[in-house]
Amino acid sequence: MNLLGGILASGATDESEIDMIHVPGAQMMMRTAPGSSMRLVDLRQLGVHQLSSLLDEEAALWRAELHWDYQFSIDLIKKFLDTHSLAGVVALEGDRPVGYGFYVVEEHKGMLGGLFVSQQYSQSGVGEQILGDIVQTLRGTPQVTRIEAQLMPFGASLEGLLARNDFRLFPRHFMLYELGAHVKKLQEYAPGLRMERWHERHMAVCAELIHLTYADHIDGAINDQYRSRAGAMKFLKNIVILPGCGQFESRASFVLRDELSDQLVGVVLTSMVAPGVGHTTQLCVLPGHQRHGLGRRLMLASMDALKEQKASELSLTVTSTNERAVKLYEGLGFRKLKTFIAGVWRS
Ligand SMILES: CC(C)(COP(=O)(O)OP(=O)(O)OC[C@H]1O[C@@H](n2cnc3c(N)ncnc32)[C@H](O)[C@@H]1OP(=O)(O)O)[C@@H](O)C(=O)NCCC(=O)NCCS
Repeated sequence: MNLLGGILASGATDESEIDMIHVPGAQMMMRTAPGSSMRLVDLRQLGVHQLSSLLDEEAALWRAELHWDYQFSIDLIKKFLDTHSLAGVVALEGDRPVGYGFYVVEEHKGMLGGLFVSQQYSQSGVGEQILGDIVQTLRGTPQVTRIEAQLMPFGASLEGLLARNDFRLFPRHFMLYELGAHVKKLQEYAPGLRMERWHERHMAVCAELIHLTYADHIDGAINDQYRSRAGAMKFLKNIVILPGCGQFESRASFVLRDELSDQLVGVVLTSMVAPGVGHTTQLCVLPGHQRHGLGRRLMLASMDALKEQKASELSLTVTSTNERAVKLYEGLGFRKLKTFIAGVWRS
């Protein structure tokens, strides 16, 4: 999965830091939303101090509703705000920022990194104005042929606007498992397969595994990184090396290897997104080896490892139509915390 931190970190935390984020035409802009006193202002016109309380409110909601420490993402956003290099829009009521959204453009792809509206204001009203403005800008950017949006709603429902702008919509679930009552289960012996703890030497073969597994999978339609080896490698790098989605936890990440062919047939990757809270950033089993209990074994291995480290919870996101995965997670005891929408637009 790729939440806000991932989108920013993917372009921001290594290679020449900010350079990798291409910001289209940074004209100064100020628009008054029709029928309201709200103004939309380019995010690059505001400083960190002006957005602080909005960002604090957002971090508090991520913690309360998703058990996610959003402070790292907020720090990253502040770093970009400081240098006035984050493309996006702020809604101002008078001088007060009441909502903001930002985006990143990488080659042909525009990615909505985040959108948040203060709980004291109309979520869908302000949210739609911000999102509508960003979508319009991205669709008007010549090199952008694809837009991906995965927005975590805190009250706003923005799918109507995305649908009206020809986005294909994919409902996704954010799920949580309480590790408190977790007990290590005796795992069935899987003949010919070896479970190995994650090591960086697995990167290239794992990228290949992801590429093969998602070649014809709904999640490849949501995130086109899964559709190529290079993209899968970039995804892995964001997760494992960069703090693209929390801090990678190698002790709770495993691969399954076929002892005869030495081929990797499955992987589970885990990060820590708050103290004591793990997040499954990837689970996949090679087609041909699916439905033999391997996905379950991988999940249990990571749950056992987290339990040993005294973690209290494990979360993940899953596309709601990915029935086998949803069923697997529900069977393991995960419950749905929130449903959100992933939207994809293609020119
Ligand atoms: C989702 C995924 C990881 C599940 O892995 P898996 O190894 O197929 O899962 P499991 O075998 O552990 O369990 C899934 C099914 O196999 C069944 N199963 C488990 N052991 C079995 C066995 N020995 N024989 C036959 N079926 C078995 C389970 O009951 C379950 O059946 P169901 O789908 O009818 O409920 C795998 O399908 C996959 O990689 N999918 C593509 C990528 C993906 O969707 N990843 C998750 C993103 S959130």
